[in-house]
Amino acid sequence: MKILVINGPNLNMLGIREPDIYGKNTYNDLCELITDYADKKGVEVKLFQSNHEGALVDEIQAAYGNFAGIVINPAAYTHTSVAILDAVKSVGIPTVEVHISAVETREDFRQVSFVRKACIKTITGLGFDGYLRAIDTLTQNGK
Ligand code: DQA
Repeated sequence: MKILVINGPNLNMLGIREPDIYGKNTYNDLCELITDYADKKGVEVKLFQSNHEGALVDEIQAAYGNFAGIVINPAAYTHTSVAILDAVKSVGIPTVEVHISAVETREDFRQVSFVRKACIKTITGLGFDGYLRAIDTLTQNGK
């Protein structure tokens, strides 16, 4: 099974940005955690991060026919992007939304998620482990 893991803006700053909220581990640490877990499960993963909405849309579109599942943390675009929602709907690939923090306990503007409408599940507040649980969801779904 092939899974695409997409991270949106400022997640390349993990370890530096607001460590009290997102932790001290870096984006590279996250990539290693996901890659090691996927290897153990016999899942092929591609990791992609961009600060640009259009690049995220392009990557989702390019997944069509190539990936059986998507794990996506659209970061701030979660709360603003109809384009990312439409891209996930367009490709019809089972997608799990992940947030490192418990967005539901944070500011009002973080309570809206456009992409959620196209996702089979949302995982929040589990830190980096949320990505691993999302892979579990997709592999169970794919069997
Ligand atoms: C985030 C939560 C978003 O509200 C925020 O804009 C992010 C990260 C999270 O993983 O908790 O950049 O998606």
